[in-house]
Amino acid sequence: MTTLPLTTEPLTLLVTGGAGYIGAHTCVALQQAGYRLVVLDNYCNSRPQTLQSIERITGQPVIAVEGDVRDRALLDRILREHAISGVIHFAGLKAVGESAEKPLDYYANNVAGSLVLLQAMQAAGVKTLVFSSSATVYGTPQFLPYTEAHPLAPVNPYGRTKLMVEDMLRDLHASDPAWRIGILRYFNPVGAHQSGLIGEDPQGIPNNLMPFIAQVAAGRRAFVNVWGNDYDTPDGTGVRDYIHVSDLAAGHVKALQHLQQAPACLALNLGSGQGHSVLEVIRAFEQASGRPIPYQFAPRRAGDLPAFWADATPAERVLGWKAGCSLLQMCEDTWRFQSRAGALA
Ligand code: NAD
Ligand code: UD1
Repeated sequence: MTTLPLTTEPLTLLVTGGAGYIGAHTCVALQQAGYRLVVLDNYCNSRPQTLQSIERITGQPVIAVEGDVRDRALLDRILREHAISGVIHFAGLKAVGESAEKPLDYYANNVAGSLVLLQAMQAAGVKTLVFSSSATVYGTPQFLPYTEAHPLAPVNPYGRTKLMVEDMLRDLHASDPAWRIGILRYFNPVGAHQSGLIGEDPQGIPNNLMPFIAQVAAGRRAFVNVWGNDYDTPDGTGVRDYIHVSDLAAGHVKALQHLQQAPACLALNLGSGQGHSVLEVIRAFEQASGRPIPYQFAPRRAGDLPAFWADATPAERVLGWKAGCSLLQMCEDTWRFQSRAGALA
């Protein structure tokens, strides 16, 4: 008897929002793990050129489709024509302040967008999904570190959109246990790909700490406002769980591989498990860039929590994944990307 060699065709995944910050880094990790990718993005917060940078890093093509995740006919066509076997769903809006000003945009994009995607997947029989959730679903800490069993009580519209989608996914899995669903609750993603080719370059004034510090180091802004120095934390400034975006990307690959083994509906924290204060981040960035980062203390930012960080042990136990990059590496890679982006501007 002759045995035919097993041909293992690479699996094709749909990545929604794959041109965005976390999506692009995850595309790199997925391609390097052997997946073929179709990216659906409407570029409302990204640029198509990022997909070329991904191709440059990995040496593999990305199939790009420009469009909206709420376009059911488009989704039906992509799922059918590309024989998609799973979806990584990043597409959505993510600014907390804006979500309070324009809640309907957030419900339409994040909740209705996910609903249309799930309906299309169900109709096509594609039942593997990894979803971008956020630590913001926990709300005010009842205890720290946040474990996955912490009560879910988000305090802003953005967080509520994430919780609504999580609930939708849990209900879907309960109705049909053949689904393979990974809900990943990201903590504070920062950093950039080591190549300096992809990273986060927000338009306008950055809301988040790391991109703001990077712009101060680059001389684009005069100083960092440290929002509050009277919190009950070791140095009085806010404490967060920063995670390198490449570690986060690797976590998606592990989650997908885990789901391929058996159906499940998992919710896992993706964080480093360590808290760092605003002043620690500023000092690490000074070391990484070799430049002084002027700062001044300013009143607390409305809606900010004093401190939170992840219990990262369940992700390690279940997925065999752990964030490995130090705060200094996060700053070095941010600085490499920022210097390159500045040089190209
Ligand atoms: P991003 O804005 O850089 O990426 C989102 C991408 O989705 C962009 O390329 C955007 O153009 C695209 N997009 C948005 N709406 C779309 C739509 N309706 N149809 C098609 N494409 C659309 O954001 P990111 O930081 O990469 O975040 C990715 C996901 O992770 C988001 O769902 C976000 O809520 C979630 N998340 C982000 C963070 C963070 O700190 N960056 C933390 C927790 C969770
Ligand atoms: C914010 C979002 C959160 C989102 C996360 C993405 C809010 C309330 N929460 O979280 O939902 O998942 O971004 O990473 O917006 N800081 C300064 N000066 C600055 C900017 C920030 O001191 O110019 C401080 C903040 O007070 C905070 C820390 O730096 O203590 C981190 O802030 P930021 O990067 O905005 O993240 P989060 O507030 O954790």
